[in-house]
Amino acid sequence: LTHPIEVNLSERSYSIFIQDGLLDKCAPHIHRAVPAKKIAILTHRKVFEWYGGSLCRNLKNAGIAAYPLFVPEGEIHKNEKTLMFILRKLASFGFQRDAGLLALGGGVLGDMGGLAASLYMRGIDFIQCPTTLLAQVDASIGGKTAIDFSGIKNLIGAFYQPKLVLIDPTTLKTLNERQFRTGLAEVVKYGVIADGKLFRSLEKNLGSVLSRQDGVLNRLIHRSCSIKAKIVSRDERESGSRARLNYGHTLGHALEAYYGYDRLSHGEAIAYGMWFASSLSVRLGLCTKEVLIRQVRLLRRIGLFKKISGFNVATVYEKMLLDKKGKEGSIQFVLTRKIGLVNIQKNIPRQIILSALTQLLSQMKRPSKLDV
Ligand SMILES: NC(=O)c1ccc[n+]([C@@H]2O[C@H](COP(=O)([O-])OP(=O)(O)OC[C@H]3O[C@@H](n4cnc5c(N)ncnc54)[C@H](O)[C@@H]3O)[C@@H](O)[C@H]2O)c1
Ligand SMILES: [Zn+2]
Repeated sequence: LTHPIEVNLSERSYSIFIQDGLLDKCAPHIHRAVPAKKIAILTHRKVFEWYGGSLCRNLKNAGIAAYPLFVPEGEIHKNEKTLMFILRKLASFGFQRDAGLLALGGGVLGDMGGLAASLYMRGIDFIQCPTTLLAQVDASIGGKTAIDFSGIKNLIGAFYQPKLVLIDPTTLKTLNERQFRTGLAEVVKYGVIADGKLFRSLEKNLGSVLSRQDGVLNRLIHRSCSIKAKIVSRDERESGSRARLNYGHTLGHALEAYYGYDRLSHGEAIAYGMWFASSLSVRLGLCTKEVLIRQVRLLRRIGLFKKISGFNVATVYEKMLLDKKGKEGSIQFVLTRKIGLVNIQKNIPRQIILSALTQLLSQMKRPSKLDV
């Protein structure tokens, strides 16, 4: 498990290291991946108090100067103001092209840090050091960077790959329960889109996963990163097969936008999104009901189906249509064939989508009964 996972993108290739306690021994990896002698640590105060000490000590021993750079927490700060603040700080540190930026925290920091790194002096080396489950299995890999702008999520951004991803699963010990479960939704997603074995192991070992046993988490993260690395290596800019990663996200994004990002976490939104995509697949005769039922059972055991008040079907439908991934006026869906295999499909009859939405609406009010 200490072998790195490679993201293969010719001259933009990089390694993902996953190891318990990695923050205490990461300097050699950093040394090998980037020449920087000065590295800004983009983080939140709280996260830095927990994990910054060992990281900075380690860098110092390797002859690299660390410059802590604190920004406030939360998606509401993933904006142009914070981005400019970061760039101004890098300038005030006197950073030149040979400096680097490391993001220590969740996906908000990773997305914003990557964008700042891509902009500062037309690009300085960027390192991802994700500390939430969502960022460890998803956001830190693949080079999508962004800020929210003008009320639209991730409107301004760039593809900018990190030079290195450092994952220390022991940092997940401090993560709150809801954040942790949100990350698990993405792991379920990987199982459904690419790995029936991963899905089965979640079904079988959910207890030890939820109690965050070291070895168990390590394996889940490793498997998830391998899947994402492989998909990104084949289709860096989402011209085709990378869209599979959006399984459950077409409706998920619409629900997040509809309810606001506080009422429904990302994982809670895509859990309903996966239910929906799978229900569509059953309606279209692409998979058996069993495929839907297994997902519902697992997502429910994880506690991802949050009880929530009804939505307006037409509004949510419109929001799905607006999702930037839908091209040429028809919504693109990732649909299930079986656990471990999905298809990308457009031109699904509006009536089928609306009737699945209506069914979902009635089920969301009593998610403990949610089934098929
Ligand atoms: N680039 C991509 O491919 C990609 C993919 C998925 C999501 N994202 C983005 O990621 C963001 C969401 O990421 P997130 O869920 O990590 O949210 P986040 O970055 O806001 O982190 C959530 C909270 O957890 C705290 N935290 C971080 N590490 C912790 C730890 N070890 N212990 C305790 N608390 C900790 C943070 O301070 C923060 O308050 C969204 O903005 C989304 O757009 C990007
Ligand atoms: Zn997601």
